[in-house]
Amino acid sequence: MFAVYAARIDAEQPLNGLETGDRPAPPKRDGWTTVTVRAASLNHHDLWSLRGVGLDESRLPFVLGSDVAGVTDDGREVLVHALVADPDRGGGDELLDPARGMLADALCGGLAEFVTVPARNLVDKPASLSFEEAACLPTAWLTAYRMLQVRADVRPGHTVLVQGAGGGVSTAAVTLAVAAGLRVWVTGRSGPKREKARALGADAVFETGQRLPDRVDAVIDTVGAATWEHSLRSVRPGGTVVVAGATAGALVKTDLFRLFLQQITIRGSAMGRVGELRDLVALCDARGVRPHIDSVHRLESARAAVERLESGDAFGKVVITP
Ligand SMILES: NC(=O)c1ccc[n+]([C@@H]2O[C@H](COP(=O)([O-])OP(=O)(O)OC[C@H]3O[C@@H](n4cnc5c(N)ncnc54)[C@H](OP(=O)(O)O)[C@@H]3O)[C@@H](O)[C@H]2O)c1
Repeated sequence: MFAVYAARIDAEQPLNGLETGDRPAPPKRDGWTTVTVRAASLNHHDLWSLRGVGLDESRLPFVLGSDVAGVTDDGREVLVHALVADPDRGGGDELLDPARGMLADALCGGLAEFVTVPARNLVDKPASLSFEEAACLPTAWLTAYRMLQVRADVRPGHTVLVQGAGGGVSTAAVTLAVAAGLRVWVTGRSGPKREKARALGADAVFETGQRLPDRVDAVIDTVGAATWEHSLRSVRPGGTVVVAGATAGALVKTDLFRLFLQQITIRGSAMGRVGELRDLVALCDARGVRPHIDSVHRLESARAAVERLESGDAFGKVVITP
């Protein structure tokens, strides 16, 4: 089958290791289902893999891609929960399974014509969502959904700051926060991206690191080192900073005086449960909430798609269709 894979690891120039071409179809496994991929979307995770973060050279060549929507052999239209995990090993919570991994990491990724996934990871795609839209939901959108709905401790009327304007998780967080009745503030690195965030529904937009007119109830941060201190300065006493990414670096300085005197809660968040993905899909179906898609590329042109993600110029999700 045709697939997009990491052939080499290059920490500095991740695209150097990217190849497209024939790869063996994923092997059948008991309890797993084959899905014919109709659309897949890119995530920063694919760049991390090409850089060798979380990917060992011994596993090369390695088919990339965790976000998939497609059709099963018996004709079911589905999207695929991107986390391969066993709730039993996690004490009832799949997110706490010590052996959990992303779809691509578990066996063979979704930037391909076919993917094989555990049957429990299949979520029915409503007819109202296109395959391209559905393929945006399992990673960035589910992560943003859980950050807001479960981890941020916010309710309608609260103000949330989303760090970063155009990222997959950021655009999801803005759209979902607006749908949830929150006041939404966004920081972005460029004027055009800030304006696009406003078009998604942000109530106010700011330059990265700019002092805000007031403190917010919660911060959604997937940027990391470039925004971390601003996140802690921007949250109100007793507020919450939810962190799920570190695109700009994972090693940060934290003012402990501020942390304990302002009684700030910092929460890590990673992906979401399969049931939460079903709830997110139901929200999109019922309320017409839709992912913002930056661009759609053919599988054969996947290099251009990954270049777009790596450039930092994308606004929203980069989608690939076989
Ligand atoms: N924990 C999880 O389960 C989970 C799930 C999904 C993603 N993630 C992580 O979340 C992060 C974002 O993922 P993504 O797929 O949304 O990536 P992405 O589409 O590449 O987004 C990058 C975002 O980071 C911002 N950014 C990057 N460098 C910056 C800098 N130096 N200063 C300020 N802002 C900067 C960009 O802001 P502008 O738009 O303003 O340029 C953009 O919003 C990644 O680190 C990823 O690994 C984690």
